[in-house]
Amino acid sequence: MKPVKVGICGLGTVGGGTFNVLKRNAEEIARRAGRGIEVAQIATRHPNPKCDTGTTAITADIFDVVNNPEIDIVVELIGGYTLAKELVLKAIENGKHVVTANKALIAVHGNEIFAKACEKGVIVAFEASVAGGIPVIKAIREGLAGNRINWLAGIINGTGNFILTEMREKGRTFEDVLKEAQELGYAEADPTFDVEGIDAAHKLTILASIAFGIPLQFDKAYTEGIARLTTADVNYAEALGYRIKHLGVARRTDAGIELRVHPTLIPADRLIANVNGVMNAVMVNGDAVGSTLYYGAGAGMEPTASAVVADLVDVTRALTTDPNNRVPHLAFQPESLSDHPILPISACESAYYLRIQAKDHPGVLAQVATILSERGINIESIMQKEAEVQDGLVPVILVTHRVVEQRIDDAIAALEALDDVADKVVRIRVEQLN
Ligand code: HSE
Repeated sequence: MKPVKVGICGLGTVGGGTFNVLKRNAEEIARRAGRGIEVAQIATRHPNPKCDTGTTAITADIFDVVNNPEIDIVVELIGGYTLAKELVLKAIENGKHVVTANKALIAVHGNEIFAKACEKGVIVAFEASVAGGIPVIKAIREGLAGNRINWLAGIINGTGNFILTEMREKGRTFEDVLKEAQELGYAEADPTFDVEGIDAAHKLTILASIAFGIPLQFDKAYTEGIARLTTADVNYAEALGYRIKHLGVARRTDAGIELRVHPTLIPADRLIANVNGVMNAVMVNGDAVGSTLYYGAGAGMEPTASAVVADLVDVTRALTTDPNNRVPHLAFQPESLSDHPILPISACESAYYLRIQAKDHPGVLAQVATILSERGINIESIMQKEAEVQDGLVPVILVTHRVVEQRIDDAIAALEALDDVADKVVRIRVEQLN
């Protein structure tokens, strides 16, 4: 089947990430979507040094993309309200589907854009507009569709969370951290959007509409920023057992819907209070499911591209009229399933915690170390406490670096064969998950 043709408007942080992910994962994406997704044209005024655009057609005029008859899906990644709105409305008018990461555009002009899209029978997808790479829109819209959503609360601005984290953990100044966030491409073009909570309010407006089935009403969101927070408040909160986070809260009450963004004290032992740096997290409470938590990178080149590309796959599936090419049972098209083998546990790789009951003799540790080193197993840490000697045996505890399980099996067999080792060696796998 012919590939779907995509035009990318804007080759900045997210545009560049989208181009690179589409190119790098082209084969796997086609297996999921049922056909290839090809970038037919890019509109940008500046080349992105992180992208090898090769022979892809480039124009400086975004409307060349929108008016290009070859293009099926326009990806709007220029940001801002006015030009982006004009671009998206024109794309819709031309019968093109649209994928956008532009939360300001959706929060402020979404009602008008969606009405136009319904009229023209095209899709407007915007997963990347909220919480970067976290598929939270899909989770609320599809995964929680059986629930009456009671409330949601989220850390939905990576820049603000990065600033608060660095201030709390390293005592850095607000301005210093903000500058770094700008250099890393996290901050908005106008960083007051991040620190004053406007960006979070855009995202919260979108989440509230999806959660409660209300029109987008950004103008009614209450917004309070983090610029006036002092290190003293951060420390007092800490002393009281709380963390300060810049939270967006949307809650359904009998009287109406709360829609508010402000610095918030959260008990320090809550999972969401420990979401740090540029990471985002959204808690959603539904009447059937209870509380759920979605966590991940909320900004950045490829995390945001991940959501843009997911939308492109969704649109591509919808465009492919063959019902077999709708969302496949196993995510990939049945004829594209791979025969990549499942590994036996002996071929899996992990780090290991080992507890060896050893005789309290000179040279025992040397024997243990030799057995491990002969098998290429690197020791990360080792611990032996004389105080724990019992019946002449002492537990030797060690943690290894990552290694293929077969080597640990061999090492354990050799350790258990030593005269100086009593009992079976206890083995527990260690995963850093970082
Ligand atoms: N400026 C935004 C943030 C980018 O820091 O979260 C992602 O929307």
